[in-house]
Amino acid sequence: MFDLIIKNASLPDGQKGVDIACKNGAIAAVETGITAEASEIIDAAGYLVSPPFVDPHFHMDATLSLGSPRMNVSGTLLEGIALWGELKQIQTVDDVINRALRYCDLAVSMGIGAIRSHVDVCDDSLTGVQALLDVRQQVAPYLDLQLVAFPQDGVLRDPTAMTNLLRALDKGVDVVGGIPHFERTMADGADSVRQLCQIAADRGLMVDMHCDESDDPLSRHIETLTYETQRLGLQGRVAGSHLTSMHSMDNYYVSKLIPLMVEAQVHAIPNPLINIMLQGRHDSYPKRRGQTRVPELRDAGLTVGFGSDCVMDPWYSMGRADMLDVASMGLHVGQLSSRADMAWCFEAVTTNSAQIMGLENYGLTKGCAANMVLLQARSPIEAIRLRANRLAVIRKGAVIARNQPQVTELNLPGRQSGLDPADYNPSD
Ligand code: FE2
Repeated sequence: MFDLIIKNASLPDGQKGVDIACKNGAIAAVETGITAEASEIIDAAGYLVSPPFVDPHFHMDATLSLGSPRMNVSGTLLEGIALWGELKQIQTVDDVINRALRYCDLAVSMGIGAIRSHVDVCDDSLTGVQALLDVRQQVAPYLDLQLVAFPQDGVLRDPTAMTNLLRALDKGVDVVGGIPHFERTMADGADSVRQLCQIAADRGLMVDMHCDESDDPLSRHIETLTYETQRLGLQGRVAGSHLTSMHSMDNYYVSKLIPLMVEAQVHAIPNPLINIMLQGRHDSYPKRRGQTRVPELRDAGLTVGFGSDCVMDPWYSMGRADMLDVASMGLHVGQLSSRADMAWCFEAVTTNSAQIMGLENYGLTKGCAANMVLLQARSPIEAIRLRANRLAVIRKGAVIARNQPQVTELNLPGRQSGLDPADYNPSD
């Protein structure tokens, strides 16, 4: 007797007609033709079952604050940071908790099972930290929330940032963050990377820095981050978020840099929606795209995960917690158009990001946590193309969100029928 059986599922690896049985919060079997009984049986009808979406880069302390206290007029990263500084002075712990919980509801409804959120520590009252530690606990039954101590105003540039970052880590924030390109000088930026990596090494923590979120080809803090990762033995525990300056770097320099990143096993987290929106703002035409070198990093063997970064906040007025939207933008901007490339973009918002976050028991094999999303599509590529409807979101073997299939009733001359967007499937 199982708690849940999903019948006739397609899986991301191309398997068809698979049944998935769940018991005690874990996947107990992944086979064809399971005939056992279960408390609940879902007929997947050939639609895609995936492990949940994972967002490896988000700002939950700022989300859903759009327009408070005013709009970002220039649309630039720097005005966004200034605007956020104004909001920080007036928001309360309850304000942040309420917005974050609302966002978590939205995220769960869209099939997200884990989020790595940066939380700004440049605030002596640590309002965001207090709020998101509370939220992390509240949402734990249905969402894995990992927090990064993020010194938005520069850990060296802001006089109390280092003290506050250490206070945040003492309170239980999970990961060490940074923003070296926002320090006063290149030298200070490099020094901040050294100090922050040392803190992570001393405390046994992971590192995830906003690194070189700039169009300046000489913004090379990823080089220092890579070096410190290697020097301190942090291989596999360090991520560089954004890395947009790599888009503008000299090819010869990149040919040296990427092998060093591979040696240090540094992960890369581009944020396609935000990168295409914020980068290139000082260009006339042609305007640079600003997304880092995704296929080159991937082909070299690095783990690349796409993050969403922002939804309705001082930096970005759009977004709806849809990691398929993120994957689609990454696909287009990176010109990742082969069948293999498009399928890989689905991995960038699922398995790759889970690996970067160090999630345990993630996946669709026996023994993994029974966390899944049933999508109204029949393959990962079609899921991205359609931004597929989330038919069911499953956490620890229980359905926690459900949608009806979206089928349009057509009434055309001689063509009365229901139109399921997932019915057209090119053969792989
Ligand atoms: Fe960010």
